[in-house]
Amino acid sequence: MRILSVVGARPQFVKLAPIADAMMGRAEHLIVHTGQHYDELMSDVFFRDLGIPAPDVNLEVGSGSHGRQTGRMLEGLEREFERLSPDWVLVYGDTNSTLAAAIAAVKLHIPVAHLEAGLRSFNRRMPEEHNRVLTDHASDLLLAPTRVAMEHLENEGLAGRSRLVGDVMTDVLYQARDRALSDPPPIPLGLTAGGYYIATIHRPDNTDDPTRLRSIVEALEGLDQPVLLLAHPRLESFAARNNIPLSQGALRVHEPLGYSSLVAAVMGSAGVVTDSGGLQKEAFLLRVPATTIRPETEWVETLELGWNVLANDPEKIARTVMRSPAEPSDSRPYGDGHAAQAVVAALLDDTR
Ligand code: UD1
Repeated sequence: MRILSVVGARPQFVKLAPIADAMMGRAEHLIVHTGQHYDELMSDVFFRDLGIPAPDVNLEVGSGSHGRQTGRMLEGLEREFERLSPDWVLVYGDTNSTLAAAIAAVKLHIPVAHLEAGLRSFNRRMPEEHNRVLTDHASDLLLAPTRVAMEHLENEGLAGRSRLVGDVMTDVLYQARDRALSDPPPIPLGLTAGGYYIATIHRPDNTDDPTRLRSIVEALEGLDQPVLLLAHPRLESFAARNNIPLSQGALRVHEPLGYSSLVAAVMGSAGVVTDSGGLQKEAFLLRVPATTIRPETEWVETLELGWNVLANDPEKIARTVMRSPAEPSDSRPYGDGHAAQAVVAALLDDTR
């Protein structure tokens, strides 16, 4: 069986790593990179660090408005799908690369499987929410990471196409954690274990309004320990354009980290402040307190267990970050680290 994975943005490379491993010897696995992310630190470092085979094709679409970026992907993917004629197209998460691949495949009557199906924020301002809803409804096989995701799919009439497989990011996280425990990489900027926070901000709702971005940055500047701010290119460019300095007070700006270094840095931190979907869950899995600068989250289990708290109002960030820690819990709502095997089994055993 020939399975073609389509990826394009940073979180998708992380999800691809355990899938590429699990495919070895079980299926012919091809990788198409749309080129949505193209910087060394946003793309190549993940392939190297996580031992992912080099993409078979790179469409090099680069950045652009949603329509232009998605349209360019759609055209390139259609051409590649016709040329490679896969048995399955596997799409990941909720980016513009996900949606473009799902549309290109379904139009050619190639079966599409959506990994990380059923997540919902119910926030229609988020481009990711449009991407995931449209992708789920276009796909033939919906691979859900959690019970809550399965419920969302059922509520939308998609239960018949859905399978609960667990969360593949948990697979890769546990592997990176074990590597970091046995051979810890240095903490950036000489920070001391337990004596710093990690922050990331990249969602358009937080970066693109200068007043809001300034308030978030000021809240981080005022925290009681140094803040390692891992700056996504979108944050860098909006901050520079609006003259918002990123290195005042507690802030220590740093370029994005590769996956293993990020996991080790989170393990050594006193807490994470983020608007990233992946990072809040990684913090939870490592039992590091997270503060999420969004009005809601798709990963509701992290809230219910108390390890993640929402602070969409910048005024609430400092108080939330400096809260007392949650009750210890050995709950594993995201599976046991073997989701990728379940994904490959679902693709090979598909009995639609
Ligand atoms: C995308 C995803 C988001 C995911 C995030 C992870 C969509 C709609 N959003 O958002 O869900 O959480 O990736 O990072 O697909 N840029 C560079 N170099 C790069 C990539 C981007 O400089 O390698 C800059 C460009 O100026 C670009 C901007 O960052 O315009 C935004 O990149 P884009 O891929 O459009 O969206 P992200 O914000 O990264």
